[in-house]
Formats: sequence, structure tokens, C-alpha cells
Amino acid sequence: MKFFVDTADVAEIKDLAASGLLDGVTTNPSLIMKAGRPMLDVIKEICAIVPGPVSAETVATDHKTMLAEGRKLAKLAKNVAVKVPLTPDGLKTCKALAAEGTMVNVTLCFSAAQALLAAKAGAAFISPFVGRLDDIGQDGMHLIAEIMTIYRQYPHFETEVLVASVRHSMHVVQAAKLGAHVATVPPNVLRQLFKHALTDNGLKAFLDDWAKTGQSIL
Ligand code: E4P
Repeated sequence: MKFFVDTADVAEIKDLAASGLLDGVTTNPSLIMKAGRPMLDVIKEICAIVPGPVSAETVATDHKTMLAEGRKLAKLAKNVAVKVPLTPDGLKTCKALAAEGTMVNVTLCFSAAQALLAAKAGAAFISPFVGRLDDIGQDGMHLIAEIMTIYRQYPHFETEVLVASVRHSMHVVQAAKLGAHVATVPPNVLRQLFKHALTDNGLKAFLDDWAKTGQSIL
């Protein structure tokens, strides 16, 4: 499973990229607003830090303007994945950009039918938002299971399921159990993945005992 980080904070991305476990980055207009910096500069910087796909989202709602925005974003770096919303204009734009060889991430997916359309439109990634479904009392992971089942019936689909709106480590584990290709995870959740109290306690006990031996390995 690939791990993307869901942030436009360049300092966070640099720090997490140093772990060697980061495969890509997703951003959205809200994350750009939070970063408080010009979008195009931020995307260029991120693309230079992380060699994997970096999602940059269009903001137009009509096909013509969305396509122009997508083309401009795609020119920023080879690893830009243009993000478009799951609307008729978004899917039309997805098809056009995919035909030009641009990776497209279709975002704001909340149903299996929408995911099917995105695959037919040639999306490189479909982003179902599990946390936002959980927030309204639905089961976000059930959607991932449905999409994975559907995509498996059509081996020629090349679209990767990018589990988005991840809120906690269990979302990541459940998505991995279902075989989802990618999880995009906020920085704090990505750090949580490393954590277990028994790891910390166990390490402390080993090091305390090692100190008592008076030995050194080097
Ligand atoms: C995905 O690409 C989105 O940026 C993101 O996962 C949205 O998550 P949220 O529901 O936490 O805003």
C-alpha cells in the first residue's frame, strides 16, 4: 500500500519524506488556504521534495476553464496529478487530461457508482472520502470495499483507489485489508502509525538492561 500525506505544509512534507516511507502528496484548496502561500509555488516545491504523485486541485467548475487550469498545473512538474471534482464537467476534464498523458485524481467521491465513472474516464486515482461519510453516520470503509469489489471485476481498469479523508490509524489498516492501493493521511495520523505504547515501554526496558551490562556494540 502506498502512503501519501494530505497537507500543503512544506516543512511537514520535508520531515515526513525523510522517513523514506512517503510515496506522494495530496493537497486541496482548503489545505492551500491553511498553508497561507501561493499555490503554484507550494506545488512546485512539493514536487521537488517528493518524486511520487503530487495532487494539485483545480477550482473552476466548468469544463473549459477546468481543463485550462489542469493544463497549467500539469506543466508545473512531471509528477503533478491534477485533481478534479466528481462532477460531469470534472469527468469530462479527466478524460481530456488523461488522453494528454496527465495523471488525474478524481476527488470528492462518495459512491461506488461515482467511482465506476471515474475509472471509465481514465482517472489515475479515485479519492473516496471515508471520514466525511463516517461523519454523517455512514460507513466510509464499506464504500472502499464496494469500489474494490467493482474494480476487481474489470482488470483493465488502471485507476488506483486512494482512500482519502482518513481520520485515524484504523482507517489505514482497514483500507489495507481491503487492498486499497493508496491512503492519503494527515501528518498527525501518519506519525500515529509508528506508535505503540508497548514499543516505547519495551525499548526503554531493553535499553535500561543493556546499560547495566556496561557493553557497547561500536
Ligand atoms: C483528499 O485528497 C482530501 O484532501 C482530504 O483527504 C480531505 O480530507 P478531510 O475530510 O479531512 O478534509
